[in-house]
Amino acid sequence: MTDSRSAAWDAYARRKSPRRRTNARGETTWFNWTQYPDHGPGTEVLAVGSGDHVLDLGCGTGGNAAHLATLGVRAVGVDLSAARLAGARERWADAEGMELHRGDALAFLAAATTPYRAIYSVFGAAYFTEPRLMLPAVHGRLVPGGVFALSQYPPVEGCYGCQASYIPRGFDEDPAIVKRWDHPPESWIAMLEEHGFRDVTAGVLPAPARGRRRIGTLLVRGVRV
Ligand SMILES: C[S@@+](CC[C@H](N)C(=O)[O-])C[C@H]1O[C@@H](n2cnc3c(N)ncnc32)[C@H](O)[C@@H]1O
Repeated sequence: MTDSRSAAWDAYARRKSPRRRTNARGETTWFNWTQYPDHGPGTEVLAVGSGDHVLDLGCGTGGNAAHLATLGVRAVGVDLSAARLAGARERWADAEGMELHRGDALAFLAAATTPYRAIYSVFGAAYFTEPRLMLPAVHGRLVPGGVFALSQYPPVEGCYGCQASYIPRGFDEDPAIVKRWDHPPESWIAMLEEHGFRDVTAGVLPAPARGRRRIGTLLVRGVRV
């Protein structure tokens, strides 16, 4: 698979620092919904437990899926980038119950036969796929009562719908470009409800009080009807 999106995400992989070996609590695995270390909620958002099947759309180097696997969850990750998956396979070689696939999230969902208890995306494929394509595909693979949750940057006011993200490459090279979709929380709530989700919440988690960065994290969650 060598489409321009995979190449763009391979370029991203070359510049991205690996997840730290331990978090502030000294744990070797953890779940992180936000762009900040040691911040935000954890796996309780997904309401899953040991033995449940869970799918990570755009898993990157797999830190969140690896953490779920330590809880006994059957964690499946899909990602377009061979480079990021190579990093995941190296880092989590010993993670039992974790399965990684290379491919496009929509294609994976269309071909999947497993019913998932939860599907999530952390700054992942749900950010970089048109929601009106992603939401029915996710709905079709969740069990009734299953959770879909995603996190991404909040939109810039007035900049809604499809936007361009520029991924820096080498000196004297053009950046790679991928499309992403930005919507305000109220639009996410309406879209999930239209696509068969209930108890939908969407809001912006504030940035940590420490430090100078102020951009929060949009967290969207719904339960499949
Ligand atoms: C910003 S990274 C986030 C990775 C990971 N979720 C994390 O929290 O570290 C975005 C990831 O989504 C993947 N991705 C983007 N669009 C995708 C798609 N349509 N299907 C599968 N993976 C995709 C990229 O390859 C990349 O690894």
